[in-house]
Amino acid sequence: MRISVIGCGYLGAVHASAMAELGHDVVGIDVDERKIKALAAGRPAFYEPGLPEILASATASGRLRFSTDIAEAAEAEVHFLAVGTPQTADTGAADVSYVDSAFSALLPHLAEGALIVGKSTVPVGTAARLAARLAAEAPHAGLAWNPEFLREGFAVKDTLSPDRLVYGVAQGDGGRAASALDHVYRAAIEAGTPRIVTDYATAELVKVAANAFLATKISFINAMSEIADATGADVTALADAIGHDARIGRRFLNAGVGFGGGCLPKDIRGFIARAEELGLNDTLAFLGEVDETNLRQRRRVVDLAVQDLGGSAAGKKVAVLGVTFKPDSDDVRDSPALDIAVSLQELGARVVVTDPEGLENALARHPDLGTAPTTREALFGAHLVILATEWNEYRTLDPETTGRLVGERRIIDGRNVLEPAAWRAAGWRYRGIGRP
Ligand code: UDX
Repeated sequence: MRISVIGCGYLGAVHASAMAELGHDVVGIDVDERKIKALAAGRPAFYEPGLPEILASATASGRLRFSTDIAEAAEAEVHFLAVGTPQTADTGAADVSYVDSAFSALLPHLAEGALIVGKSTVPVGTAARLAARLAAEAPHAGLAWNPEFLREGFAVKDTLSPDRLVYGVAQGDGGRAASALDHVYRAAIEAGTPRIVTDYATAELVKVAANAFLATKISFINAMSEIADATGADVTALADAIGHDARIGRRFLNAGVGFGGGCLPKDIRGFIARAEELGLNDTLAFLGEVDETNLRQRRRVVDLAVQDLGGSAAGKKVAVLGVTFKPDSDDVRDSPALDIAVSLQELGARVVVTDPEGLENALARHPDLGTAPTTREALFGAHLVILATEWNEYRTLDPETTGRLVGERRIIDGRNVLEPAAWRAAGWRYRGIGRP
């Protein structure tokens, strides 16, 4: 099929490349000329395993091109809207102005029977509002909402083989939107991917509901980690035990520094704001607690660090391993690791952060942050080590060789990924989150 992807940030760049990988003829459009030039040259502006490879093969084959001119989208049968919906500073609501402007720019270029497909995470009600505009201004085209559930670090795989497809379609469109999307995703459909065809509001809500649920699960186990710390219980054993109940499940029950990134924190805040607009002030109030519990984890780690350093961090060297919000990503948006590092630096510690991919982005936000290009340099002479992001190279550190580099054998395992007994046996003062 002929496809356009409007907005070539993280979601759009991955989606455009994956659609071309599936054999479609794709044009990626963005207003940012630098972004477009870099993508056309095969260089995504962010780290995502597997993306450079499919981007290169798709551009080389001619199935994928990029442009800043939206008129180049005119021949497409399906137009994906993949622009960002950032958090508004004052209310926390999702800002849909990029969705609106992309939609407006696209309207004059819609071919007869073209389908616009929203992928951006939007407040419920957005699709219905856009559909009303479409009916008035370009009635020859259709609109569907098809939320995206990709995870950073697995974005290519999640796009090529999603665990479900959700189509929000207009009532009474005679199945046209669903059959166009079935064409787009034929490979996944043939592989048996569950597909849910529903209305606009439900499709919009599926996305934020899923992220709110995942965030709640993480904050739940983090709350349990506080109880565990107060009682001497072990939150990892607790998670294993409750996780065996298939109704609960073990995934997303890892206690630690909490969740971050470009989706979970923003989406729960946007969801709360939307519920309030709907007059449902109490309904999602618990998500405010989920957010607060999450942010408290960062403060707990900072407090633990100060306590470990004898009551003051001033002048002490603290090695922070990891700065991204999760491994296999260079994303530091709302990153607990970055927050912890900055807080300790503000308390006077000589913080040295290291990360395989995230240092450039961290320094762009905090130019004064102490950093080191290698784990070895970060660790050298440290009075305290904090494992803040569970990159594989930190999970597999050897307590003895690590111990020879540092000044004091003290470690806070902010992700509960190290074996406490092994570290203690090597003379370390080991502290996890909710672990005795
Ligand atoms: C998330 C959703 O998973 C994805 O479906 C949606 O499309 C976008 O938001 P992502 O932000 O890439 O994806 O990261 P995810 O893997 O979900 O992790 C989110 C955060 O939760 C990370 O900071 C991670 O470290 C943290 N986390 C995850 C925990 O603290 N504990 C866990 O058990 C799991």
